[in-house]
Amino acid sequence: MSPTPARLSRRKLLAGTAALGLSGSAAALYFSGSTLAASHGGNTNPLKIPPLLEGTVQDGTRTFDLNIQDGQTRFFPDVTTATRGINGSFLGPVLRLRKGETTRFNVTNSLNENTTLHWHGFNLPAAADGGPHQIIRPGQTWSPRFEIREEASTMWYHSHLMGKTAEQVWSGIAGMARIEDPQTGALGLPETYGVDDIAVALQDRTIFRDGSMPYRPGMHDRMMGYTGQIPLANGTVNAYFQATTSLVRLRLLNGSNGTIYNIGFSDGRTFHKIATDGGLLAAPVELQLMSMGPGERVEILVDLSDGKNVTLTHFNRLGGLRVSPQFAFLELRPTGQLADSGPVPTTLASLPAPDASKAVNTRRFVLSMAGMMMNSRFTINNRQMDINYVNETVKRDTTEIWEVSNTSPMSHPFHVHNTQFRILDRNGTPAQAYEAGRKDTVLVAPNETVRLLVRFDTYADPDRPYMYHCHILEHEDAGMMGQFTVV
Ligand code: C2O
Ligand code: CU
Ligand code: CU
Repeated sequence: MSPTPARLSRRKLLAGTAALGLSGSAAALYFSGSTLAASHGGNTNPLKIPPLLEGTVQDGTRTFDLNIQDGQTRFFPDVTTATRGINGSFLGPVLRLRKGETTRFNVTNSLNENTTLHWHGFNLPAAADGGPHQIIRPGQTWSPRFEIREEASTMWYHSHLMGKTAEQVWSGIAGMARIEDPQTGALGLPETYGVDDIAVALQDRTIFRDGSMPYRPGMHDRMMGYTGQIPLANGTVNAYFQATTSLVRLRLLNGSNGTIYNIGFSDGRTFHKIATDGGLLAAPVELQLMSMGPGERVEILVDLSDGKNVTLTHFNRLGGLRVSPQFAFLELRPTGQLADSGPVPTTLASLPAPDASKAVNTRRFVLSMAGMMMNSRFTINNRQMDINYVNETVKRDTTEIWEVSNTSPMSHPFHVHNTQFRILDRNGTPAQAYEAGRKDTVLVAPNETVRLLVRFDTYADPDRPYMYHCHILEHEDAGMMGQFTVV
């Protein structure tokens, strides 16, 4: 990877980064002697591909057994790290889900503390959501069951324990899911898991020379979101992948606690964005750089037909159009005679334009950070999360506009449970093509108001709330979260 700042073309750069705000600057720390990154910077490791879990079908219900457990992980060859995972030592399997199927998860907590497992991005009964109200105690098994109602897409799941989400996700309690549907399967996109269709969880961690990876954010980390110094792709340090096809489809998750990634390639090549959080775009959008807040997923197609190695990278923005590589996440190495994937399709999904005239109500959400350092308060509408207080009540099967404004000096990824929404506009400017698809998490820049068209289908429960919150987990745990019921 080039150590010098790369220049990106103005048009493509602007296209991908409208929602960029501040991002943490840890470039200097990355090479600091206190972590293992310095001594192992040159070693490369094959990308870990999580197992694609099929589950088993019992009486028409696809059933997955998931065990949340403590483990030991070798991120570096000569030390082990205490971590947590699902059916493994760090992170979890990729769940293969099918639209329309009733699905059950038997989630066992083998930790010695409480946890939860939240299905991020799904429309589901509140009792199955896995948020702060669905605590799984040590030794218990929780078995939510619901129909997969989403389009073909890339989802994820993670711990959502009140006040401890950041620490538990940091330790490894997260995994990804791939939803399939027949129409998408017919498009001819790369879809052979682990060959030309790869789920990649992007994260960063601080790992010390003794191997320890404690969750120990400092004051600045609590303010800005915790950014580690070591990039991980599916828990792999300095990962590479040997590609055998001319196109590779990457299902990217920003699974970090608090880092907004600016994703591009080391040689500045463009790529095609084909899907947002909740499914395919109407057509591929060519980009050179794109921002991804914690919680967001993006599917891209990368063209490797020139046979050159290239690295998926998180760039720091230096101001203007200059960027500098901060995290080398994943080197793609085209190997041998590449199988021809065919062209990038010109159209993908039929995506009806969001119709704001359907909205029966507008709700406003103001994100703020008040006070400095020790006394900082993270609020939505001037309130911090109170598990005994339901902030909003929404009617099932109605469409609303949620207007989210950011009065703080940094960007916040705003996430709403139980829905895939559409972005109407940012400060009055209609959503750009690259974010015009289904979304459940949206970056809101300082001084920006983003209007979302939101619907909560099918399930009502007056007693159990869902969450909306900033997906910078340090902010969520510090109170930037609220609750709503659907009735
Ligand atoms: Cu990804 Cu409330 O969660
Ligand atoms: Cu969620
Ligand atoms: Cu935030």
